[in-house]
Amino acid sequence: MKIAVVPGDGIGKEVVPAVLPTLEYLSEAYQLGLEYDVFTWGADQWLDTGIGLPAGAIDLLSSEYTSVFLGALGDPRIPDMAHGRDILLGMRKGLDLYVNYRPITLPSGVIDLYRENTQGLYVGIGGTVARAGTVSVAIDECVYTRETVEKFVRFCLGQLRDKGRRKVTLVHKSNAVPNTGGLWQDVFRRELQNFPELAGSEEYVDSFCYNLVRDATPYEGILASNLFGDIISDIGAALMGGLGLASSASICPETGFALFEPVHGSAPDIAGKGIANPYAAAMSLALMLDHLGHGQAAELFRTCVIEVSQSDAATPDLGGQGTTGRFMDHVVALLKRGTDNRTS
Ligand code: NAD
Ligand code: IPM
Ligand code: MN
Repeated sequence: MKIAVVPGDGIGKEVVPAVLPTLEYLSEAYQLGLEYDVFTWGADQWLDTGIGLPAGAIDLLSSEYTSVFLGALGDPRIPDMAHGRDILLGMRKGLDLYVNYRPITLPSGVIDLYRENTQGLYVGIGGTVARAGTVSVAIDECVYTRETVEKFVRFCLGQLRDKGRRKVTLVHKSNAVPNTGGLWQDVFRRELQNFPELAGSEEYVDSFCYNLVRDATPYEGILASNLFGDIISDIGAALMGGLGLASSASICPETGFALFEPVHGSAPDIAGKGIANPYAAAMSLALMLDHLGHGQAAELFRTCVIEVSQSDAATPDLGGQGTTGRFMDHVVALLKRGTDNRTS
């Protein structure tokens, strides 16, 4: 089984190629047998051919690949991100990657953010009503099925328990959005009864964001619906020190198929300058190594990435003088040192 690599657009095409040599190195050093193919899905292909996610891509991915490693999608020439929705949301839905894990790593510890990844406001149901050529009504439906909320909540609570977590917070907005909000509360309360190790709490998303920014230390696990989880991810990234640091894994627990990508987008403001921080992409690759059962390689890799992020070779967003390439060259050098130590 191979890995499908999708660099995508903008800085995705910078951070992914910078990180791949570390995957090759680790696969060789630890004999992981990890091979990959690169797919050029993204804005250029969309503009040239009108194709986003090619026909048959979901079948191809699920039959021949174990995971996807994605950079980012987004291009100023496609302001409505139509290609990105087709490719990224197409994979999330088509592969049923309903659990989006986005760790918020802070000096006080890691907060495990779990975002539902396939439904809610992202179901793509809605439309517009036009009057005299201008849109007068716009509708995007928020849809949740009990089946999806249940399997999501159950899986995430299980993960939190297995990690030894003691607290979990459901983030919702049932005061203003009572139908889906109420379904989430009902499922959360019922499922929690099977997890006596976990103390559950519920917060409205607005006050939750306020509390998180003021003091993140009380939180251990967070469960959120799709759009709330998207927004909380970027707040979490800001708390971590920037979008260049936030990683993610989108998982289908039933099949084991997963997609790994940084939380950030294509960053058109810095694309082409060679200064994009590869940390988030690298840490997403570390999540992939964990997921594929290569925890030892993942641990060494993380240690090396963190060490470079604290050095002069770090990118400017972290206060360093480095470039995307130099950052990862240093990581490879540290990996070599680490694996030499292991064998000597
Ligand atoms: P963005 O995440 O691309 O950038 C926001 C800010 O963070 C920018 O100032 C950028 O320079 C900075 N930043 C992001 N990643 C960085 C990195 N690795 N190193 C240093 N700085 C970094 O968000 P945006 O500008 O709102 O979106 C740009 C495009 O990306 C849009 O088309 C959007 O739809 C798309 N997008 C895609 C994804 C994805 O593919 N998963 C995620 C978010 C946004
Ligand atoms: C993310 C992104 C995507 C999302 C966009 C690009 C569709 O913001 O992965 O966080 O909303 O999920
Ligand atoms: Mn986002």
